[in-house]
Amino acid sequence: MTTTFVHGGLVVTPDGKHHADVLIDGERIAALLAPGSTALGSDLRSTADVVVDATGKYLIPGGIDAHTHMQMPFGGTEASDTFATGTEAAAWGGTTTIVDFAIQKPGERVLDALESWHAKAAGQCAIDYGFHQIVGGVDHDALKSLEALVAEGVTSVKLFMAYPGVFYSDDAQILTTMQQGAELGVLTMMHAENGIAIDELVRQALARGRTDPVHHGLTRPWQFEEEATHRAIRLAEVAGAPLYVVHVSARQAMARIAEARSGGQNVFGETCPHYLWLSLEEQLGAPGFEGAKWVCSTPLRSRSEGHQDGLWQHLRAGEVTAVATDHCPFCLNQKELGAGDFSKIPNGIGSVEHRIDLIYQGVASGKITAEQWVRVCSTEPARMFGLYPRKGVIAPGSDADLVVYDPCGRTSIGVGKSHHMNMDYSAYEGWEIEGKVDTVISRGSVVVADGQFHGRAGHGKYLKRGLAQNLT
Ligand code: URP
Ligand code: ZN
Ligand code: ZN
Ligand code: ZN
Repeated sequence: MTTTFVHGGLVVTPDGKHHADVLIDGERIAALLAPGSTALGSDLRSTADVVVDATGKYLIPGGIDAHTHMQMPFGGTEASDTFATGTEAAAWGGTTTIVDFAIQKPGERVLDALESWHAKAAGQCAIDYGFHQIVGGVDHDALKSLEALVAEGVTSVKLFMAYPGVFYSDDAQILTTMQQGAELGVLTMMHAENGIAIDELVRQALARGRTDPVHHGLTRPWQFEEEATHRAIRLAEVAGAPLYVVHVSARQAMARIAEARSGGQNVFGETCPHYLWLSLEEQLGAPGFEGAKWVCSTPLRSRSEGHQDGLWQHLRAGEVTAVATDHCPFCLNQKELGAGDFSKIPNGIGSVEHRIDLIYQGVASGKITAEQWVRVCSTEPARMFGLYPRKGVIAPGSDADLVVYDPCGRTSIGVGKSHHMNMDYSAYEGWEIEGKVDTVISRGSVVVADGQFHGRAGHGKYLKRGLAQNLT
C-alpha cells in the first residue's frame, strides 16, 4: 500500500490547533506524530512513497459539502455541472465529500428515483459522495420507503414548503414524514419558505409588469422564510423529530433556529457562502438582467436589513451547524430562460469550488476562528450526516481526506475562467481573496497539488451514511 507522509502542518480541529505530522497508509490515516520529535518522523520524510510538505500551512480535514445539485433538472433545463465536472471542481476547492440530492417527483417511486441518481453518479465522481433523498410527493408508498433508504445509507430526506405543484408538501405531509422519520432515525431537511404566499406575490408582481430578477427576491420576503422555519420547528417538536433547515438566508429564521436549539430541541441550521457575502442590493438587484446570475431560493437578502451580519453572528456563536454551497450552477443561456419573467429563471448559484476559501475569509477578517471554519465546513456536517469519524476529523483510522491550506496564499475567483466549475461566469467574478488551497488528498490519493489536478473520475466512492451523530 502507498504510504504518504504529510509533515510540518498546523492541524486545525474544532477544538484547537496543534502541530503534527500525519502518516497515511493506503486510504486511511495511520498515525499522528509529534513533529520533529521522533526519528520515525525524519525517516518517513525519506521513506514514505509520497511526501507532502505542509510547513507554514494549515492542515484541515477534507471539506464536506452537504448540499449540492449536480446535473439537477430544474425548470426545463439541468444544472450545468455533471457529477464528473462538479466533483473535480469541488476537489480543487478542498472539498473531498459531497452529499447530493436524489429527487423523487410526485407519482414516482422513491427507490426508483434513488436508483436513477446512482446511475448518474456511479463511476463519475472524483471525490466521495452520498445522497439525501428529496421527497417531492409524500404518500403512503414514499413513507414506506424510508426504511429501505436507511438500509441504502440515505438517512436524510428533504421536503419543500415552497414550489407548490412541484415539490411542495403540506403540513400534514410534513408532519407524517417527520413522525415516520423520527421512528427510523431519518433526519428531515426542510426548504423553509411559505410557497403558497410567495406564488401569490409572484403573480401580483408579474401582473404589474415587474419582471426583472430583483423581483425574485422582493416576492420572497424574509417574513415568509421566518414563518415557514418557525412552522417547521413546531411541527418537528410535536413529531419529536430532528430538523435540519437548509439554505437559511434570513437572520430572523436563523434566530428561530438558535432559539429552538437553546430550548433543547434537535434543530439545526445550514447557511451558504452567498448568504454570508452577497446581497439583494449589490448582486440580485444589478441593472437589467444581470441579477439573474444570483437568482436562488431562498433569495439573497438585503444588506441594509442586516441579514449577512446577523448570519455571521450566529455562525460565530456556534448556532450554525453547517455551511454548504447548495451548488446548482446554470450557464448564462440557461438563466436567459427567465428573460422577461423572473419566475422562469432557473434557481441556483454555483460555488462548490469556493466554499472553503469563502468561509476562510471570515477567519481572515476576524469574524470567526479557524476552529469554527473547520467545524462548519467539515466536522459538523460529518456528524450531522452520519459520516463521522470516517470523515470530518484527522485521526488514526479515519479516511485520509486532508487539505493543506495556505493562509498566506491568495485566490482569484472567476478571473479569466480561473475556476473549474462548468459555468461561463462566477457569482464572485473578480474577487481576489486571502488563503489558498495548496494540496488536497482524497482517501490517501493526492488529487490536487502544485496547481494541477491529479485525480480521476471514478476515484470517488459512494458513501453509505449512518444516522446523525449530533442529536441530544
Ligand atoms: O435555488 C436553489 N436553491 N436551487 C436548488 C434547489 C433548492 O431548493 O435547494
Ligand atoms: Zn515534519
Ligand atoms: Zn431548497
Ligand atoms: Zn438545494
